[in-house]
Amino acid sequence: MNDTSALAAAQALDWHDVGEPDDFPDGAVWPVIAAGTPIAVFRQGEALHALHDLCTHGNARLSDGYVENGCIECPLHQGLFDICTGETRGGPVTEAVRSFPVQVRAGRVEVGVPAAD
Ligand code: FES
Repeated sequence: MNDTSALAAAQALDWHDVGEPDDFPDGAVWPVIAAGTPIAVFRQGEALHALHDLCTHGNARLSDGYVENGCIECPLHQGLFDICTGETRGGPVTEAVRSFPVQVRAGRVEVGVPAAD
């Protein structure tokens, strides 16, 4: 069982279509909305990742930030978050940003948002 299916098994997820894989340039970040939630989608090679598109330190969109060495740097105070997990990697941020599972099904990229959200 991979991480995505383990998370899906642990909680009921609604999968939201956010585009085609080619809509997400390798090494970049792209903003989408899924279930009314702003989400930053990252592509690193064949891997896709999704984080809440709001810094936990202030009112800044991570999708306006900079991707570097597997992290997204917040554009406001340069806090760092791990793209894969949302964990903090550099101050001033102290709280992880929420991550969401991503899957590609039938050629479409889907982000899993808990059904209760
Ligand atoms: S708002 Fe993101 S680091 Fe301060």
